[in-house]
Amino acid sequence: MSKAAKVVAALKVDDLTQRQAKAEHKRLADEIRANDVLYHEKDAPEISDADYDKLRVRLKAIEAKFRQLVDPDSPTQQVAPTPSTAFAKVRHLKPMLSLDNAFTDEELLGFLDRVRRGLERETDLKPEDEIAFSCEAKIDGLSISLRYEDGEFIQGATRGDGTTGEDVTPNLKTIKDIPHKLKGRGVPKAFDVRGEVYMERKAFQEMNKRQEAAGEKVFANPRNAAAGSLRQLDSDITATRPLRFFAYAWGEAEPRPWKTHSEYLRLLKEWGFKTNPLTRLCKTPDEVRAFYREIGVERPTLPYDIDGVVYKVDRIDWQERLGFVSRAPRWAIAHKFPAEQARTRLNGINIQVGRTGALTPVAELEPVNVGGVMVGRASLHNADEIERLDVRVGDMVTIQRAGDVIPQVLGVVPEERPKNAKKYHFPDHCPCPLKTPVKSEDGGVVRRCSGGLECPFQQVERLRYFVSRNCFDIEGLGGTHIENFFNDGLLKIPGDIFRLKSKEAEIKKREGWGDLSVRNLLAAIEARKTITLDRYINALGIPLIGEATAKILAQEYGDADDWLAEMLAAAKERKKQPDDVRKEKAAAEVGGSYGRLCNVEQIGVTTADAMCAFFSEGHNVEIIKDLRKQLTVEAVKRRVIAADAPLKDKIVVFTGELSTMTRDAAKARAEELGAKVTDSVSKKTSLVVVGENAGSKARKAAELGVQTLTEEEWVKLSG
Ligand code: IVH
Repeated sequence: MSKAAKVVAALKVDDLTQRQAKAEHKRLADEIRANDVLYHEKDAPEISDADYDKLRVRLKAIEAKFRQLVDPDSPTQQVAPTPSTAFAKVRHLKPMLSLDNAFTDEELLGFLDRVRRGLERETDLKPEDEIAFSCEAKIDGLSISLRYEDGEFIQGATRGDGTTGEDVTPNLKTIKDIPHKLKGRGVPKAFDVRGEVYMERKAFQEMNKRQEAAGEKVFANPRNAAAGSLRQLDSDITATRPLRFFAYAWGEAEPRPWKTHSEYLRLLKEWGFKTNPLTRLCKTPDEVRAFYREIGVERPTLPYDIDGVVYKVDRIDWQERLGFVSRAPRWAIAHKFPAEQARTRLNGINIQVGRTGALTPVAELEPVNVGGVMVGRASLHNADEIERLDVRVGDMVTIQRAGDVIPQVLGVVPEERPKNAKKYHFPDHCPCPLKTPVKSEDGGVVRRCSGGLECPFQQVERLRYFVSRNCFDIEGLGGTHIENFFNDGLLKIPGDIFRLKSKEAEIKKREGWGDLSVRNLLAAIEARKTITLDRYINALGIPLIGEATAKILAQEYGDADDWLAEMLAAAKERKKQPDDVRKEKAAAEVGGSYGRLCNVEQIGVTTADAMCAFFSEGHNVEIIKDLRKQLTVEAVKRRVIAADAPLKDKIVVFTGELSTMTRDAAKARAEELGAKVTDSVSKKTSLVVVGENAGSKARKAAELGVQTLTEEEWVKLSG
């Protein structure tokens, strides 16, 4: 984050100016979207649920105050990101909604009050009448919809974006809690049963141990393990995962004989479903609050994770009267629990070295049970955080696990600080055998090993990244295998992976490797000798280039060798380019390979410079050339533009704010029509679409005599 953005992020919503609110809205929305992808598509979140909730709460607060910032693309208007494409899509007959959250007692009372007022307005409810709520534990898993016809399970799908999900029927059929055929009376002719797929804590830990031993992906928490297991392309793999299911809702249902939610839950049980036993009908606000407290007390000893309780108006005719606001029912709410915390002793602080050399301090803790999971390590983020918390070795600390990735150290218990507690001195040398000095970046927040490519710790991390899921995805080479192979000289650079075949005999002699596992590993490696260009680019670990940018680069350059040649040329040109020229001239005008790179969508000068620095290192280029020789990198099929596309060969620029669509939607439409969309106006530009508050680009278009269109004209033209 830039300094200015940090300042804005620290301000209260009420203190934001219009401009700051707009910038902060964009930052939050981007961050939420990025985390949504990590969570929903990769099953590998990087921030805690509590931190994620905070982002959403702040975004909502900003939208409540600055109404003009609400747009259909805002994460607040969407249930979840669009489903991925690996599975067939299923359109839900009734949308799968999400729930609004209450975090405090006040918010809960606000909800109860809104329901009462709504019902008094809409029905003959009197102030003295009671409203019954079905109160249920909120299971921390993923919701799914199951279609039954004539009592038979015929199709099941994930929630996806709420409207369309993924067809995971074969996988769901492996879950024993999901009946294939319903029994008992009153089963509707055709209906959707909805509920939560989850994994018990103990089964999750055992599964993770098995995964680690096999060098496979280790999951962050039971919920991500459940999501990852359900989204396997091979249902035989899902069958080996300990998935469970609780039913708690319905979608489309014809006929629907039940009158209350609690009656429906009883029926579900009769038909053969598991329903959650932590369910109670409560008739007064005090009963509702007592339920919340009691479940909170039970939470640490439950066999599965819950992250709150859900209250639902029991009478279905009342639910219908109350209806929905945006994507959530007015008749239900999720009352969230705070993150699970515990106290324990900090025995020491270790330093982990990442792929780019960043040093991350990790707290080594006296193992402690936090909400059912044993925790022995927690993140301390960086040197600043150690300073801010004033945490010392020997201290009693509070830690938190919020269904999370890595537990966090929240703070010190000062009255329990022992006399001999030791202040921690952040090392000024990398802990790797080379002991290279550490350099500071970002005002000292990030400390990085200066050993670069020579640092063996970084080399191991880069190899780990190379084989990881979104890169070469080599099964059987995860976990500690890479490190062991590296330490014993079997692997040093990525190309070595594809030479492992010649070391077959040597690997077979190693502990834990049998004929079969070696054969599987070599087959997995062989299968990756053909790779797509975006994965290839991503795997190289170029600074600032992740999965998304790698895809864009692959689209732009199309071919591995052309791309490499262009990068080398760009790096060379960049060296000759004085900094002041770059600043004064728009990247587009610099031209050549460097100019082309700067102009690639989402690249810009900073990223382009980081890439050029990477490609100026002879060592990096050698590694890539060595790797390239062993692979078939598939060329990217470029978008084919039809000869009669209305905007073929046109270069279009959008400037200013559009009111009827987002900029991205407008760009996508222009591209569909065959145009190339760029960011800056030049003589080559064919059209400039000018929105509200447009600035220099509109002026430049006028100066150069480039045709301009208003938004309305654009809409007419583009249909
Ligand atoms: S009812 C329209 N009941 O919580 C209401 N949801 O934050 C549909 N969840 O998407 C949801 N336990 O994944 C409901 N007893 C429960 C639940 C529950 C867990 C999840 C579900 C939902 C999310 C909303």
